[in-house]
Amino acid sequence: MPDMIARHPKALVAIHWITAAAVLGAWATAEGGREVVAEPPLLHFTLGLAVLALVLPRLVLRLTGGARPDHGRHPLALAAGAGHALLYALLIALPLSGWYAASQMGVGVQFLGVHLPALAAPLQGRPGIVAEVHESAGSLILLLAGLHAVMALWHQFVLRDGTLRRMSLR
Ligand code: HEM
Ligand code: HEM
Repeated sequence: MPDMIARHPKALVAIHWITAAAVLGAWATAEGGREVVAEPPLLHFTLGLAVLALVLPRLVLRLTGGARPDHGRHPLALAAGAGHALLYALLIALPLSGWYAASQMGVGVQFLGVHLPALAAPLQGRPGIVAEVHESAGSLILLLAGLHAVMALWHQFVLRDGTLRRMSLR
């Protein structure tokens, strides 16, 4: 079959899947409350910060080259675009809010052995609102990514438009 699918650049495809794995990993290694202070979940920090580190080159790739899927003007297509934009926003806001929350809890953050500066002054007592926003955003991205995956599979196997191949490394 001739290849009619506009693919995303390979680097963007690789970043898409590494990011998906890192988000799942960060979610799976998340901890809340006192435990975070007693024994900071380093793996959670590392996976989450990897998401942040990858989002900038990803946006550059997205904006400069390769496939720019035009989903059209149909309301569903606009919803798909808005969903992707929201996913991007969460990929930035989630790690930053986590880093901020850790700082408020007086927990040091490091990435690959490098100690990062605190984003906020430590709070006395309970963690602030940013920690709560971070936790809710953590659930939201999982929900949204799940919906996103279902839609991708719907395109692939019901509409049969080869959407998954746009995100295939081969
Ligand atoms: C945490 C997990 C995930 C995140 C954060 C995520 C995020 C994104 C984002 C932001 C885009 C838009 C790319 C762009 O146009 O710049 C995208 C595209 C895409 N994603 Fe995901 N994704 C995740 C998981 C998945 C999974 C599990 C699947 C498949 C089952 C999938 C399949 C796709 C496909 C096929 C596209 C291309 C859509 C198109 O070109 O129109 N994603 N993803
Ligand atoms: C994609 C990235 C991330 C996801 C999906 C995520 C998800 C979550 C979730 C779901 C929780 C709540 C856990 C619970 O209450 O049991 C949490 C807590 C937390 N996360 Fe993240 N996180 C991410 C990135 C980060 C990063 C980069 C940092 C720090 C550098 C961080 C620091 C924290 C801290 C300090 C808490 C505890 C907040 C509290 O106890 O009030 N997170 N995270």
